[in-house]
Amino acid sequence: MSSSKRYTITAALPYTNGPIHIGHLAGVYVPADIYARFLRLTGNDVAYICGSDEHGAAIPMRAKKEGISPQDIIDKYHAVIKNSFEDFGISFDNYSRTSAKIHHETASEFFTKMYDDGEFIEEVSEQLYDAEANQYLADRFVVGTCPKCGNEESYGDQCEKCGTSHNATDLINPKSAITGNIPTLKETKHWFLPLDKHEDFLRKWILEGHKNDWKPNVLGQVKSWIDDGLRPRAVTRDLDWGIPVPVEGADGKVLYVWFDAPIGYISSTKEWAAREGKNWEDYWKDENTKMVHFIGKDNIVFHCIIFPAMLKAHGDYILPENVPANEFLNLEGNKLSTSKNWAVWLHEYLEEFPNQQDVLRYTLTANAPESKDNDFTWKDFQAKNNNELVGNFGNFINRIAVLTNKYYKGTVPNPGDFSELDEDVLEQVQQFPDNIAKSIQRYRFREASQELMNLARLGNKYLADEEPWILIKTDEARVQTIMYVGLQIATALSVLSEPFLPFTSNKLKAILKTDENLQWNDITEKEVLLPAGHQIQEGKAPLLFTPIEDKTIAIQLEKLEATKKANEAANKTVEPQKDTIEFDDFTKMDIRIGTILEAEKIAKTKKLLKLKIDVGMDVRTIVSGIAESFKPEDVIGKQVTVLCNLAPRKIRGVESQGMILMTDAVDGSLAFMEPQKETQNGGQVS
Ligand code: MF3
Ligand code: ZN
Repeated sequence: MSSSKRYTITAALPYTNGPIHIGHLAGVYVPADIYARFLRLTGNDVAYICGSDEHGAAIPMRAKKEGISPQDIIDKYHAVIKNSFEDFGISFDNYSRTSAKIHHETASEFFTKMYDDGEFIEEVSEQLYDAEANQYLADRFVVGTCPKCGNEESYGDQCEKCGTSHNATDLINPKSAITGNIPTLKETKHWFLPLDKHEDFLRKWILEGHKNDWKPNVLGQVKSWIDDGLRPRAVTRDLDWGIPVPVEGADGKVLYVWFDAPIGYISSTKEWAAREGKNWEDYWKDENTKMVHFIGKDNIVFHCIIFPAMLKAHGDYILPENVPANEFLNLEGNKLSTSKNWAVWLHEYLEEFPNQQDVLRYTLTANAPESKDNDFTWKDFQAKNNNELVGNFGNFINRIAVLTNKYYKGTVPNPGDFSELDEDVLEQVQQFPDNIAKSIQRYRFREASQELMNLARLGNKYLADEEPWILIKTDEARVQTIMYVGLQIATALSVLSEPFLPFTSNKLKAILKTDENLQWNDITEKEVLLPAGHQIQEGKAPLLFTPIEDKTIAIQLEKLEATKKANEAANKTVEPQKDTIEFDDFTKMDIRIGTILEAEKIAKTKKLLKLKIDVGMDVRTIVSGIAESFKPEDVIGKQVTVLCNLAPRKIRGVESQGMILMTDAVDGSLAFMEPQKETQNGGQVS
């Protein structure tokens, strides 16, 4: 295994405009956490860095909507997000926030250095402006049609559909996200990063230098941007939320959020180093340090083009060795969405599945969107838990713990001579650290997690083949050896599972009372992982995993169904108002309350009911297209509103003498206009 190195591992700073969900975890934080834990366990010097991204335009917009200050928004969600990460065992060495003083200073200094070195173009240009809101429109403040893919809801700086990053003035048919107005153009001064100047360097560094070790999805995006031609990008904005541009003549201007946020990795490292007595510069300026950015695919342009161009232009910094971006995770076939509430929120998950962090960590890893978008389904979650975690991993450990207690009161037995099979199994165990490591080092966390499960499978198969529970009656000495071998496998699992299932690993170490100094490589190098005579936890060992029942899954699916309905209702477009009419036009209509006396379906139709309605003046027949929403027996006795003087007409051979008034219910069915109090039949609606 490679010798010890220094690593700076960054995970995308989440926007603090909402809590985080499974998509964040699967795409960025769990893979980065597996990587960081693995590197620590293999003796490397690791800084795993993150923090809250608090200057996005989405934040003041959300604040405006909720009628509170942007500061309230970021304080609230910074706390929620930080807690979720802690709850799920995401082992950041530091979690900072971009509103921190140290970050404002770091970002300002970074800008100033580039400014002084002449790395920006200063230019007065026409930008989109909303006169009513008295604001320039960039980024999330403007929506329009993406010039590249035609998506009509592209933001000013990025199209979420095709991932393209552009300037707000590139949008076709732009509209203000604040007022809905069509923006005008107004002159304003900004500072631009001339990306075109860095094109050669980017092409050589990434497309040539990393063509074999970066992921194809990342290389593909980078190539397409470079081939499209890089242009200068404004790195300042006319906004009052953000880091003030630290040069003269820039009043009312702030740094573009994507300029300051990645510098947040540096500030967070500084904060950590100051606290831990380290030198932050080792982690950002030493060529021997390996820097890896974990991100989702919508962040590729910023981490592979813009931030590296900034680091290069600044001159003091190292560049990332890899940017293993993931694709997106969907939920039950639909795109995860904070605004549509289409998500499994981490804080809600823990209320419904207390202490089951590892189940989610495992499912998201085993099904990670590493090379293509993937779908999270609750059925699959249940199956992975029940078949793999309970049925394989948990089952093996449970058998080992129960039998060791039953046969030896919890003491690891003395083995006799090893059989050929024992030798073979122990040798196989020794291969696992290297195999899992190889997958992790190539950022193939799914593969790595499956390899871990293969170790548990090896243990189960060994027990099933050797059947100590049968042999115990005839060959006690052999059983000692079998159990000894099984306990070695269990110990290997307790160590190798740590990056993936940290809570389970801890529980298992407590059950086995393992030596806490055991490291990853010890599994390969040490002959004995759990010595004969060692005492494991006595009594009934706690179960590592528990089966998830169908009804638990059904509740989750119902919840999503309810969200879907609520969204459909909210999305129903309201028809615009019709042309004005005079009062006389209204009084021409004879609208009355009536009671349905009889109802029957009209044969061979899907929609039609034939109703007998008492409208006071008489009892008349009305044919109504409501059969898909109501059964005949359900409408009898109901009071409804009837347009009585509509010219009669024949429908399916039945003369209909009027029309009952209906509206659409939110669930998509029809609803009657029932009087709010009991009303006399024939009573007029006026
Ligand atoms: N907040 C951004 C997002 O959620 C990610 C910022 S990553 C950083 O898409 F590099 F800018 F920090
Ligand atoms: Zn697009």
